[in-house]
Amino acid sequence: KKVIFSGMQPSGSLTLGNYLGALKNWVKLQSEYDSYYCVVDMHAITVPKEPKDLRKNTFEVLANYIAAGIDPEQVTLFIQSHVSAHAELSWILNCFSYYGELGRMTQFKDKSKKLDHNAITAGLFTYPVLMASDILLYQADLVPVGEDQRQHLEITRDIATRFNNRFSETFKIPEPFIEKEGAKIMNLQEPLSKMSKSDSNENAYILLSDDVDLIRRKFKRSVTDSIGVVKYTDEQPGIKNLLNIYSKITHKPYDEIVADYEGKGYAQFKDDVAEVVINELKPIQEKIDYLLKNKDYLEKIYQSGAEKADATARKTLRKVSKKVGFLPK
Ligand code: TYM
Repeated sequence: KKVIFSGMQPSGSLTLGNYLGALKNWVKLQSEYDSYYCVVDMHAITVPKEPKDLRKNTFEVLANYIAAGIDPEQVTLFIQSHVSAHAELSWILNCFSYYGELGRMTQFKDKSKKLDHNAITAGLFTYPVLMASDILLYQADLVPVGEDQRQHLEITRDIATRFNNRFSETFKIPEPFIEKEGAKIMNLQEPLSKMSKSDSNENAYILLSDDVDLIRRKFKRSVTDSIGVVKYTDEQPGIKNLLNIYSKITHKPYDEIVADYEGKGYAQFKDDVAEVVINELKPIQEKIDYLLKNKDYLEKIYQSGAEKADATARKTLRKVSKKVGFLPK
């Protein structure tokens, strides 16, 4: 079986963007592949983080995965910091990654621009190397992510290829899996930038934990345009985003949805998008509540996941250590 690896940061409740851009595809692919899905807590501390929030969010993200349909019997679910090979490979690959290429990462440039110079950690800078290590340790064939991770996948491929060329075939070169619908869910208030939970305006995003009224309200207030026709075009980024959300959930092609709303106003369309989202999220939300009351169950899952992940990761790390010239213990 081919291998999948992917992960999400425990930096709060997941957004509709995380769900439609990545998690929904993880569920779809899980049975066809040998799947490893991870909560990347080590990535989360690259920016300041309260320990109690990190603990809470880590449980939450794990519960979100399972509630969304990830089957813990079928896939390996684990927490990044529990498998020390991630940190170890990351150090080695840091020594095969360059200052120049890391400085060109758009996510680093965006994030560091918002910080005081003395608050930009070395961890934030080498973040993509840790991400490359996550993927390469499992010899992943496929990495299902949203559009914003494409560049990180490219640098992962570059680092892997460089290592393979310097020594010999060591790492599988992974491919991104990015589906057109849902790959970039936009900010509901500024539809030219992506939906992100770090936004200061909470009307900009839908959280998987938002209740029904809040979801309705946020869609009602979503920014559109004055054209007044539901159409899939770059000139109407707000409407295009709502079409994307609707289509990704219902699997209805854009032209059919557009035809349904011919001659109807935006108000009806917005309300219907909200209902589609509410129906999709409702069973997930119920399951999240249930799971978070059963922490023992979640603990069992991530413990057995870590054991399995560790065994796979160790094999790759041993190979790598030998190739760079570390003596065996
Ligand atoms: P993170 O935690 O920011 O996001 C998790 C996943 O959600 C996708 N995503 C979106 N998709 C569509 N529209 C949006 N508005 C949107 N916002 C987020 C992301 O593309 C991602 O797939 N560096 C990664 C985590 C990571 C990882 C990995 C991923 C660490 N190691 C190894 C894959 C493989 C990140 O910060 O994602």
